[in-house]
Formats: sequence, structure tokens, C-alpha cells
Amino acid sequence: MSKILKINRLINPFKKTISVEGDKSLSIRWVLISSLSKKKSIASNLLKSEDVMSAIECIKILGSKVYFKKKRCEIIGTGLKYNIKKDLTLNAGNSGTLARLILGLLINSQKKIKLIGDKSLSKRDFSRITEPLKRFGAKFETNKKTLPISILGIQKPKPINYYEIRGSAQCKTAVMLAALKSKGTTYIKARKSRDHTELLFNHLNLPIIIKKNKKYDFIKIQGTEKVKSLNYRIPGDISSSAFFIVLTLLSKKSKLLIKNVNVNPSRVGIIKILKKMGASIKILNEKKYKGEMIADILVKSSGNLKGINCSDKYNSSAIDEFLVIFLVAAKSKGISYFKNLSELNQKESPRLKWASKILNLIGIKNVVTKSSIKIYGKPNHTTKKNIIIKNYLKDHRIFMMSTIAALTFGGKWKINDLSSINTSFPSFLKTLRSIEK
Ligand code: S3P
Repeated sequence: MSKILKINRLINPFKKTISVEGDKSLSIRWVLISSLSKKKSIASNLLKSEDVMSAIECIKILGSKVYFKKKRCEIIGTGLKYNIKKDLTLNAGNSGTLARLILGLLINSQKKIKLIGDKSLSKRDFSRITEPLKRFGAKFETNKKTLPISILGIQKPKPINYYEIRGSAQCKTAVMLAALKSKGTTYIKARKSRDHTELLFNHLNLPIIIKKNKKYDFIKIQGTEKVKSLNYRIPGDISSSAFFIVLTLLSKKSKLLIKNVNVNPSRVGIIKILKKMGASIKILNEKKYKGEMIADILVKSSGNLKGINCSDKYNSSAIDEFLVIFLVAAKSKGISYFKNLSELNQKESPRLKWASKILNLIGIKNVVTKSSIKIYGKPNHTTKKNIIIKNYLKDHRIFMMSTIAALTFGGKWKINDLSSINTSFPSFLKTLRSIEK
């Protein structure tokens, strides 16, 4: 496979039905939570991307058994306690979710576990998660706030009171996993963020009580002795769907039906924002599955898109989708403004900075600060420029955003590091080809 994707065409009109691969957040959570049960858990449609495979490698090193059978994955876990005989090293690859969540699980490791990751992950902040986990009684060794980090767990973790201030589901979940292994009750007050872990804990009848107000979730978790097996059909990923939603909106005379997507309310910020901008998007056949909402998404080309002064109440529910939302802003009438997004620069690459660079390359005026971006939309804008995208820390979402920009703004693009899609959406190009056929 060529390592550079070359694109020199605008996409032709299309009318298609697709499905996208399994949700990454749910896939990683299924792997980690299943590893806590001694009984066999079975998943279908598990995302087989590098992030999820890294999670599987980690739990195998910690003692779980994992089998792939046709389209299913089976896990027989270790239970809540490990039987680790020597110091170990775990590699989280590119995955911030895996790295942070697994530190929560390692709260009771009897041996020292070193956690490493790739170049991008090794630049990311881990103090946000070592700080609360220290309060459970774990010990950490690290030179900076970044990987590599070694954790030495504690046999009887002490429950904590935790105030999660960033709206980070990774931090919230890591603390929830550690809380399950503690003796007593952990209280979490968390800014709104995706709630997949809460729904899975509820489905497993784990001792969790959740109260919500507009801004915060209040979670009370008791330590437990046993976790049941978790059989699960993973729905499609809305973050992967987002690339094709935006491709359709910005194409002429096109229509796309995306089947069986996870439309959990804590993930659908993109749909709310784009609808406010005038997009034609419909949620069809909505149904509930083990607490999650699943639906088909119908999108049509939308000619009259308008800019948005975007409320930051959508930030957490659209956090992984802003890159493509910015492309919609670039083709909308008027100025768009997105604020309080400093977390975007804490992702696989500094995404706010990269979004601004890419918009500049396309010829879209924008003003970026550390936490906001103002985009001056040009509805009919196309370009003929040569555009090269490289050195972006192989951030999968920057690669896919660039591909969608190339197909909707024109120009001669060379997008490096094609393999980056394997992080979250290995069949991205195959799906694109099926639309273009
Ligand atoms: C994720 C949470 C988000 C998101 C990431 C996946 C998760 O990160 O950006 O891609 O699965 O919990 P934060 O929780 O750090 O915001």
C-alpha cells in the first residue's frame, strides 16, 4: 500500500448506503471491561483497528485469553485481581483512551507495570490521570507528565472523591474502573462527557448510581468482587461516520444513508451543530441497545449552509468531530466561531493548530488562538493549489479530514502516512471507494 494518498479530483454526485466499522470507544471499553470477568464475553462487530488491538495485547499480557472466531471476538478475563509474577511493560500504541483507562485498571497491580506508547501518545499529558489515581494509593514513576510511566498498584485501593473538571471521559472512566476495585464508595462529580462506561456498568448491574444536572454528572460507585460477562454487538462509530456525513453535505446532488450508528446523546454534537448550520440530516429507525441509542443517519447535500457562533455546550459531544465541522464552516456563508477548545490541542496532534494550517492551505481565512478558531466561510470556494500534508504525528483524523477537504475543495493533494487510518478506521478508503463506484 502506498504511504502517500494522492487526490486530484472533486467527488462526483453519489446516492449510496454504507455502514462504518465498530465504535472505537465502545470497542476499547468492551475489551477492558470483559477482561475483568472470569466468564466468557463475546463481541460482534468489534473494531479491529490498531488502538483496539493494542488493548487486546495489553489484557493478554495481564493474563486474559482472547480468541477471534469468524466475526466474533471472545475474551476470558482475569477477574478483578491480577496474578502478575514479574514487572511488565504494556504498549498503548497511539491510544490515549487505552493508556488512561488501563492505568485505572492497574490500580491493584502487585508488580510494577511500565506503560509506553508511540511518538504522538508520548507527547500527551498523563498528570490528569496520575493525580486522581495516586489518591487511591497507587505509586507512579515518571520524569515528566508524559509516557513512559510506571505504576505500582495497591492491594486495597482507597475510594476517593473526584472532581473531573475537563469533561474528559477518559479520566472519568479510569477513575470508575479504579473505583470498582476499591473497598468502599467513590464519588465522582464530572463535567459532561461520553457516558458509555456508565451505560455498560448499568447493563452489568454493577453498583453504580448516577444523578445528572445540566452541567455535571454525579456518579457514586461501590467497589465490587465480581464482574459478569459482557456480550455485546458493537454499533458503528459516529466519529468515523462524521467524515462521510461531511463529504455528503459538501458534495453536489448527493445522498448517503449510514446504517446502524451509535447515536448516544453524549456523542451527537456534530449532528446538532451541523443542523444549526442548515444541514439536511435525519436520524431514522432509532432503537435502544443495552442502554445505547442506535440509528441510521440520512444525509443530503446541503447548498445553503450558514456560519455558526458555536456554543461550547457542544464541545464534549463533538470533540473528535470538530476537524470536519471546520470544513463545513469553511464552505458556509458568513463567519463561524468555535471557542473553549484548548482540549483539541491535547489530542493525537495539536488539532486546532492543524485545522488552521489546513484551512490556510485551502485558501480559507481563519484566526486561531490557543482555544478558539474563527473561520471566514466561502460557500463556492475551490482551489487548484498543490497541497502537501505531512509531519502531523500521523494523526488519523487529520489524514481523513485532509482527504475529505481534497474531495470537496479540489487542488492537487499529497497526503502522507496513509497507514494512520489503521488507528480508528482501517476501511476508510474502501468505504470511500464504495461511495465513488
Ligand atoms: C474518548 C474520550 C475523548 C475522545 C477520545 C475517546 C473515550 O477524550 O477525544 O477520542 O473513549 O473515552 P477525552 O476524554 O480526553 O476528552
